[in-house]
Amino acid sequence: MHPIRESLIAMSSGARGRRGRATIRHFLEMKQEGRPIVAMTAYDVLFARLLEEAGVDLILVGDSLGQVVLGYDSTIPVTLDEMIHHARAAKRGAPDTFVVLDMPFMSYQASVEEALRNAGRALKETGVEAVKLEGGHERTCETIAALVDAGIPVMGHIGLTPQSVHALGGYRVQGRSEAAAERIRSEAVALQEAGAFAMVLELLPAPLAETISTSLTVPTIGIGAGPGCDGQVLVLYDALGLNPGFEPKFLKRFAELHDVALEGVRGYAREVRAHSYPDAEHSFEGD
Ligand code: KIV
Repeated sequence: MHPIRESLIAMSSGARGRRGRATIRHFLEMKQEGRPIVAMTAYDVLFARLLEEAGVDLILVGDSLGQVVLGYDSTIPVTLDEMIHHARAAKRGAPDTFVVLDMPFMSYQASVEEALRNAGRALKETGVEAVKLEGGHERTCETIAALVDAGIPVMGHIGLTPQSVHALGGYRVQGRSEAAAERIRSEAVALQEAGAFAMVLELLPAPLAETISTSLTVPTIGIGAGPGCDGQVLVLYDALGLNPGFEPKFLKRFAELHDVALEGVRGYAREVRAHSYPDAEHSFEGD
């Protein structure tokens, strides 16, 4: 195990911190015990609070923020300031949950120094417990090792890495050829050696994700990577049916909030137009 990650784990008071919040040791124990890690994204206080209330193990303030909250067509335009703004809100909503901030495009790629400064800012200004970086090649692993050496827990992310969507030629399942699968397998090992405490596996064939998961000591968190991962993550708005046009094969909707919300807004509009809201029950009397 990477020596600094080992000491980060040893320094943490136990699997659960002072306020009962999970630590990186907790996620290792969950993997060892075969207990799936439940992760989900959140970007604001109310949804983060809801995820904490539901007992989600890990909240990711993903740069999917760009698409589901800010209306960009990819994660590429998202800035560190936007991530910090939303991570602060999410952390306020989930003070007792392990929260990870997704480092946005070009906040860590230019140099190790810039990555250190930006990841340091992320932790200091938001109160999150860790950051996530995309990619598993040598340069990224060097950066991750430097962050871990500085005491910053890092989650990796390989397979489909959305910040490289143009280089990858679209949002496609990765690792289908033997050569591509071998490259992803070695990236996973390199990330673990660099000190990542966990890693996201996105859009991979299920057998490949399972092989990677069983070969690592650190947990894998899958999205579109089948049931063999140590945990699963979904984008909250997609999983709750708030993003109706988005229907990739891996996505299961666990609620249909778009329909419920639409009905609510239509009901409100109907009553305002009919002068039936606000009624006496929802108005204040004079003295
Ligand atoms: O940005 C995000 O939400 C993510 C998840 C899809 C893993 O990276």
